[in-house]
Amino acid sequence: MISTSELKKKYIEFFQEHGHKVIKSASLIPENDPSALFVMAGMQPLAPFLAGEPHPEGPRLCSIQKCIRTVDIDDVGDLWHLSFFEMIGNWSLGDYFKDEAIKMSFEFLTKRLGIPVERLSVTCFAGDGDAPRDDESANAWERLGMPKSRIHFLGKQDNWWGPVGQTGPCGPDTEMFYHVQDVQEKNTEDFLRLSSSGSFCEIWNDVLMQYNKTKDGRFESLAQKNVDTGMGVERTIAALNGFDSVYECDTLAPILDKVLSLSKPGIERTNRSARIITDHIRAAVMILGEDKHIAPSNVEQGYILRRFIRRSIRHARMLGIAGKFCSAVAKVAVDVMSDSYPELERNRGYIFAELEKEEDRFSAALENGTMRLESMLNHLEGSGQKELSAKDAFDLFQTFGFPLEMTVEMCKEKGFRVDQSGFDALMKEHQELSRKGAEQKFKGGLADNSIETTKLHTATHLLNEALRRVVDPSIHQMGSNITAERLRFDFNYDKKLTDDQIKKVEEWVNNVIKAGADVSFRTMSVDEAKKLGAQGVFEERYERTVKVYTIAKGSTIYSIEICGGPHVKNTRELGRFRITKQEAVAAGIRRIKAVVE
Ligand code: ALA
Repeated sequence: MISTSELKKKYIEFFQEHGHKVIKSASLIPENDPSALFVMAGMQPLAPFLAGEPHPEGPRLCSIQKCIRTVDIDDVGDLWHLSFFEMIGNWSLGDYFKDEAIKMSFEFLTKRLGIPVERLSVTCFAGDGDAPRDDESANAWERLGMPKSRIHFLGKQDNWWGPVGQTGPCGPDTEMFYHVQDVQEKNTEDFLRLSSSGSFCEIWNDVLMQYNKTKDGRFESLAQKNVDTGMGVERTIAALNGFDSVYECDTLAPILDKVLSLSKPGIERTNRSARIITDHIRAAVMILGEDKHIAPSNVEQGYILRRFIRRSIRHARMLGIAGKFCSAVAKVAVDVMSDSYPELERNRGYIFAELEKEEDRFSAALENGTMRLESMLNHLEGSGQKELSAKDAFDLFQTFGFPLEMTVEMCKEKGFRVDQSGFDALMKEHQELSRKGAEQKFKGGLADNSIETTKLHTATHLLNEALRRVVDPSIHQMGSNITAERLRFDFNYDKKLTDDQIKKVEEWVNNVIKAGADVSFRTMSVDEAKKLGAQGVFEERYERTVKVYTIAKGSTIYSIEICGGPHVKNTRELGRFRITKQEAVAAGIRRIKAVVE
């Protein structure tokens, strides 16, 4: 039996021995990256470095990254898909490439984890109009002793990764599969057949990042060839231990146990609702546990969080769980996850309070929905009709978050039908619109280093400093998000800024811009940065060596801040700074939006 912490330890040790520096998990909420709501792979926080910016820790890195993938939300509850999962990975930033990456993967799996070669199969990219067949990787596997009959070539759908947005680094990948059952495939067709019957489980992916997808859809060669790998921790643990599903992992089974203990008798461990609650409450805990204090809402991360919680409540009803239960389940999730993620312990009170508030809100919404539905049914009754229209059912869903199955259940009790296929059609239309919206969001691509965003990065440092000097010296950054159009800055402060304060902040920033201060950076240890008085709030994220940006004119220092960049060379390049909006985002956290023009 191998535990999650043992697997992580072995992985980190192995890659350290091979010259990799360990970097800490970044926050689940992407920093300065408007293109994605959540971090969904270990490479995401490394985007600027994959694009060529030197990483302060050097070209060989490894990490254990918390990830959320909402694309898989409908698959949650099956054997292998999770909304939140941990990804371990190693990177080469223009250092080693295919041969060495594959050799290390093979050695780790067969020597460190002791997996017999017979239990492994691999896939490589088959080639298409964008990039040739990846024989180099296949040959590397063969040289290590992987028989040809277990090396399969598949297309883009299976063996290509990225870009995360619409543009950026990407490339063919080679994936490693663990034979859950003791069967050998005869050929690729056989592999695909066995794979879809659950005979194999993908455990690791080595992405051989050698292309950059451009805005006009071309794949140009990347100047710096990278390796980006990712191993799903829960899957690997389940596969290696011969578990029936990911839910038997030590970071999920205790949560599932708790859900079952609250359910009516006779619910099996394999029950889909029980698994969905287990997955969703853990994901909600991981989001609420972020220091940025995301709260359930109707937008962005808050919306996804709300979906996790409300879906859990719905499924809990199916298991006969009455009353509030989220915190009881969440407590177990905090207990199993907080060794690796101490922020959960710090934010314990916030996690439980928000879960309970959302449970109250949802039950109020259900009550209102029930009242509305009753009046709709009375109306139908009066006109002698027996079917609730798709539009009415959909309105209930959209306005009150009233789920279709509850509408159907209530209608049935009172002798009415529901136009379910009409509802499905409306739902599809709605999802199509949201999908388009999401794609729009991705349009910027990852790590936009355009002139506009570069200017706004520098402006953000100045705003951060101005707030401290003008408003309150204890202010620090709680979050930042930059698009080509504007900066968005969250900070700890519990009052609305007065017009006078806003004016003074703008003035301070504009004076530094006019002064023509130089922006420069030095790489140093975190301790040294602290001694310099550098700003840097997301301390946990920082590696031992960091880049520190200073904005100064001669001996006058305006700002010192830990940051990855990019920045302008001189503040004169910024133009004029203007605050366009201020608002509250959570208790004690305010948000400012600003532009440079
Ligand atoms: N970025 C690659 C993945 O997520 C490793 O599969």
